[in-house]
Amino acid sequence: MSKESQIKTVEYVDGAARMIDQTRLPTEKVFVDCRSIEEVGNAIKTMIIRGAPAIGVAAAIGVSLGANAIEAEDFDSFYAQLEKKCDALGRSRPTAVNLAWSIDRMKRVARDCKSQSIRQIKNRLQEEAQTILQQDIAANQSMGSFGQTLIEDGSNVMTHCNAGALATAGFGTALGVIRAAVNAGKKINVLANETRPFLQGARLTAWELMEDHIPVKLITDSMAGYFMQKKEVDVVVVGADRIAANGDVANKIGTYMVAILAKNHNIPFYVAAPISTLDLSLASGAEIPIEERSADEVAEINNKRVAPLGAVIAHPAFDVTPNELITAIITDKGIAKPPYTESLKQLAGETAKV
Ligand code: MRU
Repeated sequence: MSKESQIKTVEYVDGAARMIDQTRLPTEKVFVDCRSIEEVGNAIKTMIIRGAPAIGVAAAIGVSLGANAIEAEDFDSFYAQLEKKCDALGRSRPTAVNLAWSIDRMKRVARDCKSQSIRQIKNRLQEEAQTILQQDIAANQSMGSFGQTLIEDGSNVMTHCNAGALATAGFGTALGVIRAAVNAGKKINVLANETRPFLQGARLTAWELMEDHIPVKLITDSMAGYFMQKKEVDVVVVGADRIAANGDVANKIGTYMVAILAKNHNIPFYVAAPISTLDLSLASGAEIPIEERSADEVAEINNKRVAPLGAVIAHPAFDVTPNELITAIITDKGIAKPPYTESLKQLAGETAKV
């Protein structure tokens, strides 16, 4: 069976960003139409849509919707209003760099069309949002082709969080590598960490792999070491929210812990992410802003309080895995190996030439 994934995470249809509501999966499959840039920003903030590349694609559609709502006679007035809306959208979540990357790309397109009519600029932005969506799917497929060469037939693959079709416009980054390996005829078993506290692994990864009939076993995060010790993990593949110039990787909280465990058990630890997730302006992961999310997400499970009232709670939503724990970074332009400062710069440079 082909594993292309039929899941439509986000689409630009009928003047709206249509998204599958990821807060309601897996119990309900409900779609939400965001008709303004503000609604898209809210959907990103509240995790209706999440996952770095999916956030980037939703943001591009949001900018187009924002542009369409502007009434202006001249470019300067149009662009000033657009920038204000973009600034607010850019503040919706801080860690995934794909958000800023996508907004900057849309603003650049608007500036490049300065001499055209406002109508033409709006049309051009609409086209660009569709292009960003299509390019994201293509990037994931390309990452899959490169990445699947690293996965042997019969492998047990551990993943953390959800870096699948649901975290992208389609196919996925880490799960894209797994899908490509399955498509190449390899027998793959996935171990999905549940990913406390928001449970992206339990709610989303398990659901999406089961939809595609890819064998998956769900475990709690605290079981990762147990299964590695029992030699039931051959390789780890995760996604990324931002990758610094030296190859340090910000990804969902708990990723660092899994990387340390993998190192201890001599298990290869791969990161799969498109070039748009690189932030070469940051020398190291220490500079990556880490989102602090609501304490309720830790204190409650399924809206039921499990911690004592008044408990002091911390909720960093991401952590940084140092580059020395990462065996290779799989991108849509090829596989980067250490030293990452050189290999990532080279892959990003090749993208800039295209
Ligand atoms: O808080 P989330 O669910 O947006 O976090 C998502 C992750 O950390 C993913 O692993 C990352 O965005 C890569 S998605 C292809």
